Amino acid sequence: MIYLNDNYLELPGSYLFSEIAKRVRTYREAHPEAEIISLGIGDVTQPLPPAVIDALHKATDEMAHIETMRGYAPEQGYEFLRNTIAEHDFRARGIDIDPSEIFVSDGAKSDTGNIGDILGVNNKIAVTDPVYPVYVDTNAMAGRLGSFLGNVWEKLVYLPCTAENNFIPELPSEPVNVVYLCYPNNPTGTTLTKTQLKEWVDYALRHNVLLMFDAAYEAFIAEDEVPHSIYEIEGARQVAIEFRSFSKTAGFTGLRCGYTVVPKDLAAQSQKGAKAPLNSLWMRRQTTKFNGTAYIVQRAAEAVYSPEGKKQVREIINYYMDNARIIKKGVESLGLAAYGGVNSPYVWVKTPNNMPSWNFFDYLLTEKQIVGTPGSGFGKSGEGYIRFSAFGKKDATQKAVALF
Ligand code: MLT
Repeated sequence: MIYLNDNYLELPGSYLFSEIAKRVRTYREAHPEAEIISLGIGDVTQPLPPAVIDALHKATDEMAHIETMRGYAPEQGYEFLRNTIAEHDFRARGIDIDPSEIFVSDGAKSDTGNIGDILGVNNKIAVTDPVYPVYVDTNAMAGRLGSFLGNVWEKLVYLPCTAENNFIPELPSEPVNVVYLCYPNNPTGTTLTKTQLKEWVDYALRHNVLLMFDAAYEAFIAEDEVPHSIYEIEGARQVAIEFRSFSKTAGFTGLRCGYTVVPKDLAAQSQKGAKAPLNSLWMRRQTTKFNGTAYIVQRAAEAVYSPEGKKQVREIINYYMDNARIIKKGVESLGLAAYGGVNSPYVWVKTPNNMPSWNFFDYLLTEKQIVGTPGSGFGKSGEGYIRFSAFGKKDATQKAVALF
């Protein structure tokens, strides 16, 4: 007999973006002539910055010579990249993060999904709702969420974020152990100010709660009061893990690189009451299950921080944020309420006449050949919304908006 992980049987349907891809494929097969514009999954369309391409070529050449070739990369990431990250993403903002607290990986999706490996199954989890589905599905796979009861998980605490509360989640009203926060937010594109995020850090310090802070969209922040890192808030080193990604920042969705910060101040408790630092546990997990991000990719990531790299990345981000403005203006001109799109590449839109999200998705696909991401796919509170991504090509984005 082979026993499976029963938790997988609780998972509803397929992963959100696989389901969307399936529906688009079906439509495309039936209408091969249709020109479909994707404002769906947040996948980049602009080429990698030239500084990144140069670094890739150079590192590839190094791999061709016996003197400079590299084998296994250090599981935590090469020191050259961790030092560069610590310097540019943290010290330059007055934040004290040591390179030994940085773990380079193949992206924030893997890290936010894998981090649960070092946490006990009895932790009570809270998520904002709507939410990036990886946090939920991976906790369900680990057996922390109980059964799926139609549209909510039995043991998951939901923190609704809707237009009614300005997309600001309230602190949990029941005891929880771990809270996932993603800011700038995927999917709503909204943000928390420093003062609002401080409330979360203070709450976590008061109640001994771990904050999983996903900052994958940090590079899109335009407003001063929006924090780039949770460690800008005093005390966060004792309560927060932060996830970062080069995917959206520098077009690495196909190249794969991200990193996770696990401060040495963070500790958790065993069932028997013994305390252990999460930094060592994550190191243990990574060294066992991960063989490091490719050398050439880490050199490419390093190039993102060079003066030319920074300039080129900024141009690409400006290009996408221009798309966000085009989308937002377009939907607002139709009288639809739209959120986000200012510090984030996502525009979160109220469907017309409260149409259910999937119905609006189907309508846009079949009548307009435009793909969005149905809000309800991100959770119950996303019902009646649709998300548009600004990562498309400008002409396609303009065309989509004209078709709206
Ligand atoms: C999204 O569209 O939400 C993202 O592209 C998904 C991801 O980053 O995995």
